[in-house]
Amino acid sequence: METATQRYYIWTVGCQMNQADSARVAAALQEAGLHEADSEEAADVVILNSCSVRRQAELRIEGKLGALQGLKRRRPGVKVALTGCMVTGQQAALKRQFPVIDYFFEPSDLDDFVSWFLPDHAIDARELVHYYVDGDRDPAVTAFVPIVYGCNKNCSYCIVPFRRGQERSRPVAEIVREVTALVRRGVREVTLLGQTVNHYGRDLPERPTLAGLLAEMERIDELARVRFLTSYPRDFGPDLIEAVATLPKVCEHINIPVQHGDNAVLRRMRRAYTVERYRDLIDRIRAAIPSVTIATDIIVGFPGETEAQFEQTLRLVEEVRFDVVHGAMYSPRPGTLSATWPDDVPPGVKLRRHKALEALQTRIATEINQRLVGTEHEVLIEHESNGRWGGRTRGNKLVYLTDGPARKGELARVRVTDATPWSMLGTRVGGRQ
Ligand code: SAH
Ligand code: F3S
Repeated sequence: METATQRYYIWTVGCQMNQADSARVAAALQEAGLHEADSEEAADVVILNSCSVRRQAELRIEGKLGALQGLKRRRPGVKVALTGCMVTGQQAALKRQFPVIDYFFEPSDLDDFVSWFLPDHAIDARELVHYYVDGDRDPAVTAFVPIVYGCNKNCSYCIVPFRRGQERSRPVAEIVREVTALVRRGVREVTLLGQTVNHYGRDLPERPTLAGLLAEMERIDELARVRFLTSYPRDFGPDLIEAVATLPKVCEHINIPVQHGDNAVLRRMRRAYTVERYRDLIDRIRAAIPSVTIATDIIVGFPGETEAQFEQTLRLVEEVRFDVVHGAMYSPRPGTLSATWPDDVPPGVKLRRHKALEALQTRIATEINQRLVGTEHEVLIEHESNGRWGGRTRGNKLVYLTDGPARKGELARVRVTDATPWSMLGTRVGGRQ
């Protein structure tokens, strides 16, 4: 078959949702007989999966498109497709700017992309299992599973609702079917995804909840762990705290963006909570789940952010002591409310604040992780890097084993021997298994 020799290459920018979408594109193409290429140089079709959350992400894609022009001159037969958040509503403008792009598709229109590239091949994208991996590579042990697409919030700075539309939850049975199929292929841990993952199910007639879905995951044999992200503070109910506290497979790790430490800024961001309510929620989560680890997202340099307001963010970070902080410099996005306000924090000030936040968090993460030295953790072994096997604890901390080989997918009992802000070293408890 002619397609058997064809190769694809996917380049992904952006969040876990994009990674999950790219995995689905790979699954569809593998289903059709294509193989993955090691680089775009060796590919018959190159797919760029784009992100629009910050201008910086778009610039990376634009740079790549520039580079692909050279490839296309050398190999005119290669096809280039663009998907992801950049595509929505601006295909004509992008086509003018980047004639190198042959095809645009929304992530939800995967079927159309496949029939464009392979006119004789029809697929039903809904039935595709993510993380279908071709025979020449090891199957993954972790997978991202989108459970709700889009976002119904209207944070004043955020482009996601414009590009990904209103919330659409997938039915429980469809998710269970997909996770069961993933587990059959060797996956041991899934991360359920949504922009506001804890708002899952509100748009479905049976009104399932994330807590209920987690209980369903618990019943899938051979699945070892479940995670979920990202949670919106106001939608984090007691039933979800209870589910994380009591369900054995659900990992004690919560990703809950606060975005800012000052109430006036939170109001202008149109985030529907105060710093006090956020802190109260964190206190309740920690009281119910003592071993919980917490990650957050923070924006610095939002329009009108004063030095004193920025210091409120530093204070919050100092007091809450997050395990992980994803800091970002504010980037005005066309079409959003905040883009109509002056972007009045100068770039140099944004950069200084970003660095101050990072320095503070590096110190805190060092302290938190140093205290873990000597403690024992369950680590799901995922990959080998520079001769060392590594994986994550239930709290999502990366640990590398210093005492010899491990097996991918193994749940190892590990004692931490050394720690940095970003990862830890450890040895097996009770010797090698
Ligand atoms: N659903 C998530 C956010 C998705 S966007 C939530 O509940 O918050 C991922 C992160 O990018 C956000 O948390 C925010 O910190 C950052 N971000 C979004 N829009 C941004 C912008 N215009 N400028 C800078 N950072 C932004
Ligand atoms: Fe964006 Fe706010 Fe939704 S940050 S993705 S609009 S929760």
